[in-house]
Amino acid sequence: MLQKLLLNTTLKSICNIKCIRKFSDHSTISLPKRIFSGIQPTGTIHLGNYLGAIRQWVRLQEEENGIILSIVDLHSMTLRHDPKVLSENILKMTATLLAVGLDPKKVIIFQQSSVPQHTELFWYLSCISTMARLAHLPQYKEKSAQLKDIPLGLFVYPVLQAADILAYRATHVPVGEDQLQHLQLSQELTKMFNNRFKTKFPIPHAVITENAKIKSLRNPEKKMSKSDPDTKGCIYITDSEEEITKKIKKAITDFISEVEYKPETRPGVSNLVLMHSAVTGKPIETIINDAKGLSTAEYKHIVASEVNDHLSPIREKYYEYLDNPQHLLDVLETGRSIVTPIAEETLREVRKALGIGFNVNNKQMLSVNI
Ligand code: AMP
Ligand code: TRP
Repeated sequence: MLQKLLLNTTLKSICNIKCIRKFSDHSTISLPKRIFSGIQPTGTIHLGNYLGAIRQWVRLQEEENGIILSIVDLHSMTLRHDPKVLSENILKMTATLLAVGLDPKKVIIFQQSSVPQHTELFWYLSCISTMARLAHLPQYKEKSAQLKDIPLGLFVYPVLQAADILAYRATHVPVGEDQLQHLQLSQELTKMFNNRFKTKFPIPHAVITENAKIKSLRNPEKKMSKSDPDTKGCIYITDSEEEITKKIKKAITDFISEVEYKPETRPGVSNLVLMHSAVTGKPIETIINDAKGLSTAEYKHIVASEVNDHLSPIREKYYEYLDNPQHLLDVLETGRSIVTPIAEETLREVRKALGIGFNVNNKQMLSVNI
């Protein structure tokens, strides 16, 4: 029943989301909307990931039915990985998504590698991708620059991403801005496939929300990141109240005591105001007004308390979910069983278009009439 409901729903419009249509093909816009996104199982998420990316799905699920969300474990193997850590991280990410409020009755959550059609489609798309095009992608350039031996997986990673999207004929893909070039490649590959093999797969649109960019507490010129060399720069959603309070107290500000929002000239205190606004939903002007007369040191106590109020229930739920791995596996299995028929159907059409779609049971070729 749920499966039918989720599959058959034509998604409503995503009104408060800004669609970047820079690379779009408007001819496909009348198709039923299907929203797909992926997230790497990177272990614990930080406040930047949460406020900048994951929270938009929580909001989106209230407006849209049947969003498909993949925990993209295959994408987390492009650099040397530890199998034990990866399996823990898949469950941790599932627990995180549930803890922040994603409801598996509204959003389909599944593990990428449990649907083998992704890797099959990846191969077909690899055959129409060129090395020159992939070598141009900024994320590849940046990551490969630090390596002596570059794994092939790192190079072809965006082709697998295109396969993820095409497998579900996704029309809308909510992602962070850093993924725009990958989305552009997905669009190009879909168009190329359609042209060459006379298919009509929808061209996916990147959906970018105007989210807060949270900066490092120790270096407010840089974004909050778990690779920050100073561990006090990054707040994890699993940090205890004491840790959060300590990190915010030690946040770098400047010698001016007044609380202001001036990201260019006063990035440290502005970052605190932004975090405060993002976790409370209060407009920045209100926050600045309320903080009149407070020193930045006093203001830090308020920010720490608001961040803790927001994250405490999430942290509690996260540990509750992690305590029950069977439930997490059940959620992933339900997701797998819902999305598999969609991917199977796409792959049937793809194989047929490629000239390899035989139907053995009927002893009849699907792609050629003889
Ligand atoms: P990463 O794990 O750094 O690849 O980030 C995953 C997602 O979280 C991306 O879509 C980013 O756009 C978002 N993200 C990461 N760091 C931040 C940050 N400091 N502020 C806002 N969004 C972020
Ligand atoms: N590459 C994305 C990231 O690192 C994750 C991802 C994989 C993805 N496949 C996807 C995102 C398909 C959107 C759609 O964040």
